[in-house]
Amino acid sequence: MDFNQSAEDNLFDRARIIGKPHARIDGTLKVMGCAPYAYERHDVVANQLVGYPLCATIAKGRITHMDASAARVAPGVVSVVTTLEIEPLDRSENNVARLFGGDKIAHYHQAIAVVVADTLEQARSAAALIDVSYQQEKGIFDLEEVWKQPDSTGEPLADVGDVDAAFQTAAFTLDEVYRTASQSHAMMEPHATIVDWSDGGQMTVWTSNQMIEMNKQALATSFNIDPDTIRVESPYIGGGFGGKLWLRADAVLAALGSRASGRPVKLALPRPLVFNNATHRSGTIQRLRIAADAQGKITAFDHSAVSHTLPGGSGENPVNQTRTFYAGASRRVAHQPVEMDLPESADMRAPGEASGLAVLEIAMDEMAQKLGMDPVEFRIFNDTQVDPEDPSKPFSDRHYVECLRQGAAAFGWEARNRTPGEKREGEWLIGHGMAGAYRRAPTLDSGARVRLQGGRLIVETDMTDIGTGSYTILAQTAAETMGMAMEDVEIRLGNSAYPTSSGSGGQFGATSSTAGVYAACLALQEQIAKRLGVETPRFENSRVLAGDTDLALADVADGEELVAEDTIHFGDFKDDMQIGTFGAHFIEVGVHAYTGETRVRRMLAVCDAGRILNPITARSQVLGGMTMGVGAALSEGLTVDLERGFFVNHDLASYEVAVHADIPEQEVIFLDTTDAASSPLKSKGVGELGICGVAAAIANAVYNATGVRVREYPITLDRMI
Ligand code: MOS
Repeated sequence: MDFNQSAEDNLFDRARIIGKPHARIDGTLKVMGCAPYAYERHDVVANQLVGYPLCATIAKGRITHMDASAARVAPGVVSVVTTLEIEPLDRSENNVARLFGGDKIAHYHQAIAVVVADTLEQARSAAALIDVSYQQEKGIFDLEEVWKQPDSTGEPLADVGDVDAAFQTAAFTLDEVYRTASQSHAMMEPHATIVDWSDGGQMTVWTSNQMIEMNKQALATSFNIDPDTIRVESPYIGGGFGGKLWLRADAVLAALGSRASGRPVKLALPRPLVFNNATHRSGTIQRLRIAADAQGKITAFDHSAVSHTLPGGSGENPVNQTRTFYAGASRRVAHQPVEMDLPESADMRAPGEASGLAVLEIAMDEMAQKLGMDPVEFRIFNDTQVDPEDPSKPFSDRHYVECLRQGAAAFGWEARNRTPGEKREGEWLIGHGMAGAYRRAPTLDSGARVRLQGGRLIVETDMTDIGTGSYTILAQTAAETMGMAMEDVEIRLGNSAYPTSSGSGGQFGATSSTAGVYAACLALQEQIAKRLGVETPRFENSRVLAGDTDLALADVADGEELVAEDTIHFGDFKDDMQIGTFGAHFIEVGVHAYTGETRVRRMLAVCDAGRILNPITARSQVLGGMTMGVGAALSEGLTVDLERGFFVNHDLASYEVAVHADIPEQEVIFLDTTDAASSPLKSKGVGELGICGVAAAIANAVYNATGVRVREYPITLDRMI
């Protein structure tokens, strides 16, 4: 089905089920431990062996010698595969460093061997017996050194108007440098896979991955085999945040181990190896200049940045949102992904925007202060309803101003502390801060198949549920469209045998995959209409109604199964507009007057993200983003060993994420909006919007509490002195 733009009024505007708070349909399975993750699939394949990875202990160079003879004869060991025995595997387009094979080391903890044994303990202890010699090369590990070089940010990505003239004539200007840290996804479930490739023919893969079809294609590329011989299953995922978008070493090593041992092999990346072996969000250094006239109208932005990447990668581009978030006639943005020898950086929740807004929204606070304006009013004054770079492109539906106004009212912004460092409760300095949020709302073509079996509907799509609630919103979509009860719909996800969906990422998953299920349901309705010989039937209360026809859905097929399949294709009309999601964060912090410890006391987010498909699961997504934003602001940062080129804090004891106990009060308000340009359901995404701007709101609140402006994340005690 081709989607162009929704009719003004459609099925979902009169919804019974979509938009209503439905508890997760997989919730009971989850809390009972009956929603197995990849490593737990004892049920599907017998005779499993356990693999353990060996990873490089240099950042750059080559392996000169490997001796695995002691490991091969260790107790319980069935096979050992070393990187020297394997030709370098081809890289799929989304992997920057090769995942295995050959003698070259591109980053610290790159996988160099897999040991397969009867038990985890046997595999692990045997892996320690492998003797490796390296020839080490000098690597580049320090982004600060790169930043010091002239022209480090490269050619502008956009250069509109006359930026230099605007700064020369501006009444107020800002020019500051900010730093965001490298961050790890730190999802609860580490990368884990079971592969059965025991006969070297059909490969079956139970893994933890956000994008099933891409995972299958990447495996086919890596092993140079026909993708049709691969089946990938990933029905339950313990968090991804972008870290499980692409094929990683766990699946590759399990496959090699299975082929070598002739048995199914399961392998999880041990937590201390995840941080340097898998991907992370690249740190950034950003210079931001803003110019405004005497009234507070922004006249120019100049935003330039560097981030690190392995050769061939794209780093973390934090300047894109500066092109479209606020009005202003002139703007220049530049980002240089700098080729360095640190571990592989890639997407993490709101890739780009999270790091970019962490900076832009501090700078907006600083500008408002220079102007003597309320930071909420300053943002409202500089709102835009068109793309500032190309005013012929409107925003399809943008209610940023309402987010700011509603948030200010609900938070009690009027009663905030107005003079930095002036409000005190005992030993705590109290501060209030706010920030804007903006993230694009992309969609990807997405397919689904529906099977009507009597009065039951089974939905099959390779869409994944990474904890987001996909099972639930897809059941709501199918039940709504077919006029059925939620209980009569069964959702089957995460299997490459099902039609290709958008997958989960980029906050496109919910909107794209629900539209795909809607398209498949319409195909089924057409089939039913044809079968019954009726025109434009209605589907209500599990019945088909058309003229004199009034038939239970259970009876339309005389006991046969009806199967329909379709894919939603989003038209290119979207290129003529900006489709985005918007929000505002309001935060109260306490900073201890003597120790500098910061505690978040309350958080409020107001979101404008089109139709909210399910307020329970959407709220949970935003809360998760807000919590992750607290980590980004106050504690999360990968520290580079500048001599040896690896992240020193590579476990959950030394890389500290924010948890429930860190934040006593969080609230989310959704504006009641719909975006007809986005999808038939008029929804957009919220999964990444929730983190956008949070770190800046905390930085601004810390400033408000203390009078200390910190421009480097995370805002740890030492940076407040
Ligand atoms: Mo998201 S970083 O595209 O999973």
